[in-house]
Amino acid sequence: MRMRGLSGYQMGLTIGICKVSWLRSTKTAGIVCAFLFSLIVHGDQRISKEPVTITFVDPEWSKDLTERTLIADNRLKDFTQQTGIAVKHLPTPETTLDQLDLVRKLLRQESTSPDVNGVDVIWPGVLSEELMDLKPYLATELSAINADMVASYTVKGKLVAVPYHSDIGVLFYRKDLLRRYGYRAPPRTWGELEQMAVRIQEGERARGQKDFWGFTWPGAAGEGLTCNALEWQIAEGGGRIIEADGTISVNNPDAIRSWQRAAHWIGWISPRSVTSLQEWDAVNDFYHPGRSAFYRGWAKSYLLSVRDNPSIRDRIGMTNVPAGKNAQAATLGGFGLGISRSSRHTTEALQLIRFLVHQEIKLEEARSDHDSQNGPDFYDPTAILRTKRNSADNGRQPLSRVVARPSTVAGERYEEVSRAYIQAVRSVLLGQSRAPEAAASLEQELVRITGFKPGPPSRNRVSKETSLGTVSRPQPAAGSTDASAHQDFK
Ligand code: GLC
Repeated sequence: MRMRGLSGYQMGLTIGICKVSWLRSTKTAGIVCAFLFSLIVHGDQRISKEPVTITFVDPEWSKDLTERTLIADNRLKDFTQQTGIAVKHLPTPETTLDQLDLVRKLLRQESTSPDVNGVDVIWPGVLSEELMDLKPYLATELSAINADMVASYTVKGKLVAVPYHSDIGVLFYRKDLLRRYGYRAPPRTWGELEQMAVRIQEGERARGQKDFWGFTWPGAAGEGLTCNALEWQIAEGGGRIIEADGTISVNNPDAIRSWQRAAHWIGWISPRSVTSLQEWDAVNDFYHPGRSAFYRGWAKSYLLSVRDNPSIRDRIGMTNVPAGKNAQAATLGGFGLGISRSSRHTTEALQLIRFLVHQEIKLEEARSDHDSQNGPDFYDPTAILRTKRNSADNGRQPLSRVVARPSTVAGERYEEVSRAYIQAVRSVLLGQSRAPEAAASLEQELVRITGFKPGPPSRNRVSKETSLGTVSRPQPAAGSTDASAHQDFK
């Protein structure tokens, strides 16, 4: 189920952001703006007389009807108004794996190749051949963006995409229900989450909501499951599936235990249907019918839509993904913007990317000013800006510790690695295999896919390996919850 109805989705395929009639009515203003903007951005380049339309594959756009979609639409309208360059905004399928299939197919057929492409943070290795190197063209923008973030889109020295929307995994919770059951703050550990989920679930069912569950998460066969399961196993000390030095570490007792724990949630605090929930099904299920107390989602959706909407903000809070016995970790997500190597409009495509990145940076600055005046002293964990990312620089508290999926080390093999991992974890969740056997055969499969060697995860290596932030030991889990110990967006 999508928030955006099917007709909107289909319409999006055919309607460009800039309609011809609109261009006619603002012709003079458009030409003037295009001239001025081109002088600023490309002072030494010739201005094209013909109106150009570029295509933009945006992995976010078709998925929701929140403020995020409006921001995306409005930004493109502003761009067209300023430059005279029309942008055809192409929606993509719902899941990350399907998006990758589509983008790769389009990029490999030169005739259909979109000009600007959203590139998930895990795709640079997979798509590096099809995308051009942006480094020589975006020096100014790159100097403002977090260097680790830039590194996650760089393959063998080539900048495949420029960071645009970064994201991290978070736990959403129902503030009203925590209050109802006497909790002053959300859970810090998986153990606390289990206790709270059971109690709230029993209470809500006793009050008449028979289909209420404690905890929902995306357990369908998709990239969302890789992100969730990686957090579970890092929390227990089970490593990063493949470590940064290429050690295949997934077959270890801590990872196995973390999968078993998640399997145990199903039918206890999570509905059986959780194994068919994709990200957007799960988020819709949490926000709208309100049938669960906790939900593991992504921070950006909250930052962009929930926190400025008082009716939802009063009911839904966001906090760290819970910690296990070893660490607390949140998966890094998000996407950057890349240009197809066979684009025939690279100048215009670069203009669009510059424009979007500048707008994003402006928005982050405005939000950060607003937060420092009005809110608790947070830094935005999803900011791409250099100065906002590093909490050590500004003395602010990080919301979470961020861990990257093993896409850099797996390179072009990442998709196969992730599909194998998803299959193994799901076989445990569905009760089709025992966790130790699933981990052992996954290990063999990863050796076949990558040619790397198996070995143990090194907890000591974890903090050095994470590309953004660190993974550290959590505070010991307290029996009772204490609001002051939490980072919690108001
Ligand atoms: C989010 C993240 C993306 C991740 C996907 C998984 O969209 O931004 O990086 O791959 O979720 O479903």
